[in-house]
Amino acid sequence: MVPSQGLRRGGAAVTQTANAEEKDRAREAAVEAALGLLDLDAKAGLLSGQDMWTLPALPEIGLASLVMSDGPVGVRGVRWTSDDPSVALPSPTALAASWDPDLARRAGALLAQEARRKGVHVLLAPTVNLHRSPLGGRHFEAYSEDPYLTGRIGSGYVAGVQSGGVGTTVKHFVANDAETDRFTVNNLVSERALRELYLAPFEAIVADARPWGVMTAYNSVNGPTMTEHTHLVQDVLRGEWGFDGVNVSDWVAARSTTGALRGGLDIAMPGPRTVYGAALARAVRDGEVTEAEVDAAVRNVLRLAARVGALAGTEPAVAEPPAAVDGPALAREIARRSFVLVRNEPRAGRPALPLRPGTVALSGAAARDARVLGGGSATVFPDHVVSPLDGLTAALPEGTLTYSVGADPNTELTAAGAGFDLRAVCRDASGEVIGTGSVPGGHIQWMGSDLPEGVTHDRLDSVELTGTFTPRESGTHTFGIKGLGAFTLTIDGTTYFDDVQRPAKDDPFEAMFGAPESRAEADLTAGVPVEVSLHHLIRLSDDLPAKVITFSLAHAEPRFDPDAAIAEAAEAARAADTAVVVVATTERVESEGFDRTDLRLPGRQDDLVRAVAAANPNTVVVVNSGSPVELPWREEVAAVLLGWFPGQEGGAALADVLTGAEEPGGRLPTTWGDLADAPVTRVTPENGELHYGEGVFIGYRAWDQAGRTPAYPFGHGLGYTDWEYESADLDGTAATVRLRNTGERPGREVVQVYLAPAEPDASRPARWLAGFAVAEAGPGERTEVTLDLPRRAFEVWDEAAGSWAFVKGSYEVRIGRSITDPRITTPITV
Ligand code: BGC
Repeated sequence: MVPSQGLRRGGAAVTQTANAEEKDRAREAAVEAALGLLDLDAKAGLLSGQDMWTLPALPEIGLASLVMSDGPVGVRGVRWTSDDPSVALPSPTALAASWDPDLARRAGALLAQEARRKGVHVLLAPTVNLHRSPLGGRHFEAYSEDPYLTGRIGSGYVAGVQSGGVGTTVKHFVANDAETDRFTVNNLVSERALRELYLAPFEAIVADARPWGVMTAYNSVNGPTMTEHTHLVQDVLRGEWGFDGVNVSDWVAARSTTGALRGGLDIAMPGPRTVYGAALARAVRDGEVTEAEVDAAVRNVLRLAARVGALAGTEPAVAEPPAAVDGPALAREIARRSFVLVRNEPRAGRPALPLRPGTVALSGAAARDARVLGGGSATVFPDHVVSPLDGLTAALPEGTLTYSVGADPNTELTAAGAGFDLRAVCRDASGEVIGTGSVPGGHIQWMGSDLPEGVTHDRLDSVELTGTFTPRESGTHTFGIKGLGAFTLTIDGTTYFDDVQRPAKDDPFEAMFGAPESRAEADLTAGVPVEVSLHHLIRLSDDLPAKVITFSLAHAEPRFDPDAAIAEAAEAARAADTAVVVVATTERVESEGFDRTDLRLPGRQDDLVRAVAAANPNTVVVVNSGSPVELPWREEVAAVLLGWFPGQEGGAALADVLTGAEEPGGRLPTTWGDLADAPVTRVTPENGELHYGEGVFIGYRAWDQAGRTPAYPFGHGLGYTDWEYESADLDGTAATVRLRNTGERPGREVVQVYLAPAEPDASRPARWLAGFAVAEAGPGERTEVTLDLPRRAFEVWDEAAGSWAFVKGSYEVRIGRSITDPRITTPITV
């Protein structure tokens, strides 16, 4: 039999669709009317940023200024500062680990609420590039190595955000799967790999969630850069898939006026310096492009405005904001639903987790200074963070928890946080103070017109970060400067640096995301405040697309003796019933603008785990990283819990899970293995080109092809109860799976369905994910889930024909707990 192609529609669904179609028609009419009132200059001006995050308002047609903001774990808003806090959800890898599109939808609905609160119309998210190589620097920000899982989670997220009347830009279209040379790299990808892997999540989201936007990537694909990719944007995205949203460039990705317009780029961000605007109006007047082509782009922008309620005279897509969501509660729920328990060995007759009653020795700098989100443009500023130490202190009986640092993942300077009391003083060229601002975390990031009150770019000549630092510890403190340009650093009356910092690379974001160098070492005494001043001359080049002032003061505490710190943690572990070690990556490991060079945990964290495990056989390791890291000690410890970047409530969720108040609900959305074994790793282009030579074999498809065994396979994850898969029936391509919770507590199971051709075929993966569903049951209870295997699961892209080909034949349907743990296998012939 052939799987069903479309959705079955009930009566209510038909009425709803009719209403939606009527509203769409009304909005289209309003869009046409507004378009008709605009002259060429206004139209060209609307297609580029007036600043970093917004488009110009056009009051004459009732158009408000459209405001965009990153995404994806929160809504930062138009200011890059903790003065304007946002709820920080767990990393996208964590959301994907829930394998629950409905949870992603709820996350989206919360983000829409955040966006509305901040006056944001469009969230620059989700990121649906794939985990091609584990070295990809922004993996934490994407979902999975599997296109189907990515598409399902992405669809839930987009549907959720848009259910709150806020737009999304699904990004980065397409093949922005690594960061090295991201502005210039030409990714060479076969049409088949594009269709079956990299385009697939975008296609699924366009079909299932009708996103109001996409963001085109920096990179080129098979020649053209993505902001000028007529084939992939005009033919595939708009033509084949019927995408009717807006196409926004990644920031500064648009390079050419006519090329971008022809390539279907509607909005060139940011501004005011841009390839659109006046340059576009001129191109029309010079006959290089037609006004009709400009109109097509303007129509898309006006449609977006109409949908989000920024165009007067027409009903937005969502008239009534949905019911309020409790952000911190949802952040905590997602975190515990995302934690993946990959190992839980018996100790003294029962699994190491949940924790047994008794004393707990907690260690790891990341347990106290928690790493809850990844770096780069995905950064948001939560108003509080619950660290693992906070969470466990609140949850465990008084007097049962000890803490020691053990090892610090930060081997470099970090933000000037604890002990600093700083403000920014803005001066004009004569030295007169023209305004002041607050400087949380020693970091200034002023974009466009987002300057302290009374300050304008025309008058601003220098900014001084000034105030006091009261050390927590005595010893040699190190200071550094993040940013480019002329700086003077003075500590306690001594000037340590008075020079110019120049870029090491030509990535314009390097100044924001790169590592600060050490510029001063000062011997200071705990509790004794000293004066600190970092003076910066503002010399913004007119060539920059937007005016951005970004720099920060960085700091490192006195270095302790690493061996002594590890020994101290091991001693505490020896004396406790259970040892919990929290290890993590840092902003210098997982961020934007660069890829990773290895998968090791930074600093002496591996040594810490080994020392603690040697001292206490009941050692539980919690790993806070957005993407895979090597766990060379994994067989030496009792339990390993992968906690991703768990968001602002991470420590509370961790306590829920460690104590057993809740079970960890996550399953791996990506294979975890050592770099030496990973089949696809290359992220560095040669002569500007990166060959995706592995074709359709990435992630588990590649591990299978290479015949290698990873540390933990795709889909793996343990809960606190047991499941028996009792039976599975196939009715056509609908699989009904019955299972029973055979354990002693309620639980949730992710039922996974893989398809494997009965006759191995080297041109296809050995098996692939074809469906999944979440089941819940109380102890001893039975439950069932039904899932439909999509037609696409049986198709391959036929390059010669330029179309999908349905591959008839016999397959095994493997239903179970992970890709390597099938519980029921049943044949299907299609
Ligand atoms: C990132 C995008 C982000 C944009 C705006 C770019 O560097 O690649 O994901 O939305 O900046 O911050």
